[in-house]
Amino acid sequence: MYFASIHRAIGAPFAKPLVFVLALLPLAYWLSALWKDALGANPAEALLRGTGLWTLRMLCVLLLVSPMREAMGWTALARLRRMLGLFVFFYALVHLLAYVWLDQSGQWEDILGDIPKRPFILVGLLAFLLLVPLALTSFNAAIRWMGAARWRHLHRAVYGIALLALLHFFWMRAGKRNFDQVALYAALIGVLLAWRVGHRFIRRGARPGTSR
Ligand code: HEM
Repeated sequence: MYFASIHRAIGAPFAKPLVFVLALLPLAYWLSALWKDALGANPAEALLRGTGLWTLRMLCVLLLVSPMREAMGWTALARLRRMLGLFVFFYALVHLLAYVWLDQSGQWEDILGDIPKRPFILVGLLAFLLLVPLALTSFNAAIRWMGAARWRHLHRAVYGIALLALLHFFWMRAGKRNFDQVALYAALIGVLLAWRVGHRFIRRGARPGTSR
């Protein structure tokens, strides 16, 4: 009964605008902190780290949609998935821009010199590049154009992106020998991935010859 009320709330007309506003809160916080000069001694670093963490958090929320939908029967969650996916891309783009413009002052020579010194950046860049086709094909017209099966296949790349994001995070923190947060996200993404793989096997077993 409690779960049914949650499902009704997810399907209510206010749910989408509410999630939209909630997902914009980190951005609102950074803009207001910038305005008040309250981002600490190194605002560029605070923004770069904050946007990186929020990209990862959004990615985890997006990956949670399918398990919650299947396990709790909250099918209405499906209508939030596209928006959540676009927010992952949005925060990754802000993170990339924070790196290019704030960390590297838009100097391409500096960026080209920085990447060999900090190769974890290349892994982040790869994760971002993989997000681009997912964002570009997140519209109904793209599903019709590609066909549902090919579209689903492409969008499974989100799991690979999550692993690259973890590697990026791990590698960056390895330099500082600080793994607490990395372990937390690795555990969450590990569980979500295990669920995905297990779920596919169960479905295949139930309906031989089908794949999703
Ligand atoms: C899906 C894409 C990405 C995700 C999920 C992601 C996530 C993260 C996370 C979680 C951090 C650590 C934040 C912290 O320590 O609190 C981080 C740091 C960083 N990321 Fe990304 N990132 C992504 C893409 C990129 C891209 C495209 C670039 C640049 C080309 C980049 C450059 C950096 C840099 C330079 C740092 C380290 C900042 C420092 O040393 O303080 N990331 N990222």
